[in-house]
Amino acid sequence: MPDLELKVTAIKELTPSIKLFELVRAVGGELPPFQAGAHIDIRTGNGLIRSYSLANDPTDRDRYVTAVLREPNGGGGSKWMHDELKVGDVVTSSEPLQNFPLNERAPLSILLAGGIGITPIMAMGYRLRAQRLPCHLHYCTKAPEDTAFMDEVKALYGDHLTLHHDGGDPSKGIDLKETFATPPDGAHVYICGPPGLIRAAQEATAHWPQGTVHVELFTSARTEEETAEIAARAGADQAFEIELTHSGETLTVPADKSILDVLLDSGFGVPYACEEGWCGACVIDLVAGKADHRDEVMSDAEKAANTRIQVCISRALPGEKLVLDL
Ligand code: FES
Repeated sequence: MPDLELKVTAIKELTPSIKLFELVRAVGGELPPFQAGAHIDIRTGNGLIRSYSLANDPTDRDRYVTAVLREPNGGGGSKWMHDELKVGDVVTSSEPLQNFPLNERAPLSILLAGGIGITPIMAMGYRLRAQRLPCHLHYCTKAPEDTAFMDEVKALYGDHLTLHHDGGDPSKGIDLKETFATPPDGAHVYICGPPGLIRAAQEATAHWPQGTVHVELFTSARTEEETAEIAARAGADQAFEIELTHSGETLTVPADKSILDVLLDSGFGVPYACEEGWCGACVIDLVAGKADHRDEVMSDAEKAANTRIQVCISRALPGEKLVLDL
């Protein structure tokens, strides 16, 4: 997929820690279309690639709008966006990518946004309103002054909005168990926010029908125990082979390297961003071979189907050779 050169045309402070960025095509003209829930991967000037959800109306063809939370303890992408990026600068980004699509056939969409997780939910709001689709948004933030897009959210969701301000203590916020106790017939849930909220919401919706709960991650939602387990598994990793259908090449993935590392070292321009298995950027179609799926992007059903693989983190099961559509 070709890269886009995007010019920053506006930066606005939405809250003390969240900034809005408006981006247009640097050479002018229309941008590639996007659907509600989509994101773009921006190359930050400090050498990182970071995924940012698009918040504006998907019918806009001349601009992308995103919002970024400054994370002082993050990897540096958000700090660069906040502190270095200026109006008039040009950044390189992917075309819009979609891991969080809206199911427009659902009779009811329930949306749960925590903090900066409101960005894709904004674009969904435009789409839901345009299609007059039944929905309800639960928007959770610390306090009114920490609530990005407050006026726009109220305008988009109207009476179908519940604001939850917890003052920084999640136990004083939304009661997720009660909110998601009974799945309405055919309803789908969309969850986007910090890892703690996502984990709690996944637990609260664990009894919902398969395929009705959708999650968009901005960072890994793994617990410390899960992260430790992944690290322990990585210590026992073995080398395996991958075969590339288009070139016919066979490459060896050493125990201490990922498939992504090997592909990049061999000159393949594979898209990637987080390199931790949660953003979905590095997905490749899997033609044959059983993979050890370690990502947080695909559902259990998708992992069982074994037709795609996130090459930054997943590997081959012991004794398997993976054939990639590349
Ligand atoms: S680069 Fe993010 S899932 Fe692989």
